[in-house]
Amino acid sequence: MSRFITSVQSTKGATERIFDILNKKEEKEKLASFENPSFGILDFKNVSFGYDEKTILKNISFQVIPNTVTAIVGPSGVGKTTLFYLLERFYTPTHGEIFLNGKPQLNIELEKWRSMFSYVSQDCPILVGTIKENILYGIQRKVSEEELIKISKLASCHDFITELPNGYDTKLGERGINISGGQKQRIAIARALLRNAPFLLLDEATANLDTKSEIIIKEAMDKLIYGKTTIVIAHRISTIQNADQIIVLDKNGISGIGTHEQLLEKNELYHDLANQNHKAEINECVKP
Ligand SMILES: Nc1ncnc2c1ncn2[C@@H]1O[C@H](COP(=O)(O)OP(=O)(O)OP(=O)(O)O)[C@@H](O)[C@H]1O
Ligand SMILES: [Mg+2]
Repeated sequence: MSRFITSVQSTKGATERIFDILNKKEEKEKLASFENPSFGILDFKNVSFGYDEKTILKNISFQVIPNTVTAIVGPSGVGKTTLFYLLERFYTPTHGEIFLNGKPQLNIELEKWRSMFSYVSQDCPILVGTIKENILYGIQRKVSEEELIKISKLASCHDFITELPNGYDTKLGERGINISGGQKQRIAIARALLRNAPFLLLDEATANLDTKSEIIIKEAMDKLIYGKTTIVIAHRISTIQNADQIIVLDKNGISGIGTHEQLLEKNELYHDLANQNHKAEINECVKP
C-alpha cells in the first residue's frame, strides 16, 4: 500500500507537468497570405525586447549580408542568446522588426522561416534515444548510412561514437549513457550540417571546455560555416578574429560594430573582453 501511494504521488506530479504542456497555446499565425521567404539580407531595425517589464535588448539595429560571418560578443546576461530567440521567432520583439530582404519576419510563414535556420544552442540538449536518432532529429528527408558517417566525420564526432559499446545505436539520456558537453555540441553540429539551411546560428558553449575539445569544435564549426550566412555568439575572442563584422553588445544596446582590428582600437568594452580572454588563455597555458 505504501509503495502504491508513493508511486501515485509521483505520477500525479509528472502528469500535471504533461498537462501543462498539452494545454499550452499552439503557435498560431494570423496572416491570410504569406510572403515567399527569400534568402537575402537580414535586417534588425530598432529591435527592443524584454521577457517582462525589464527591457533586455535596447534598440538593436544591424544588418547581416549573405555568406558572411557576423559575431556577437558581450558580457554574460546582456541578451545574446535572447537575440537568437527573436531570430528564430520563439518570441516577438516588443518594438522594432526584423526583415529578410525587406520583408517583415512576421509576414513569412513560421514553418518556412524556421526551416531557413540551423541552430546550435549553448547547452545542446540530448534527447532520450540513440545517438543516431539524436543526429537525425528534425531532419525531414531520408539519410543513408554513408551520409550519416560522412557528416559525423565532418563534425568530428565519428571517432568517439565508434568507441562506444553500440556505436551509433548507443542509447543516450535517462536510461542510457551520458556524454560530455563538447560531445553534445558536436552532435548538434552534425545535425546542423545535415540540415544544411542557409542561415546558421551558433551559440558557443560557456561551459569551460578543455583546449583540445575547443580546437576540435572550432574545426567542426569552420566546416559548418562554409557557404552559409553565419551568426555566431562567441565567448572567446580567439574564435572570431576573422569575422566579417563583430557586434559588441552591452546592457544599453549595441556599443560597437566593426572588425576585430577596428574594435580593438575604438571600443573599450571589446578591448577589455579581448584582454580578459587573453589572460584566461595564458592561465590555461601555465596550468600544471
Ligand atoms: N526564458 C526567459 N524568461 C525570463 N528571463 C530570461 C529568459 N531567458 C533569459 N532571461 C534573462 O534575460 C537576460 C539575458 O539572457 P541571455 O540568455 O540572452 O544572455 P546571454 O547574453 O546569452 O548570456 P550568456 O553569455 O551567459 O549566455 C538574463 O538576465 C536572463 O536571466
Ligand atoms: Mg547565452
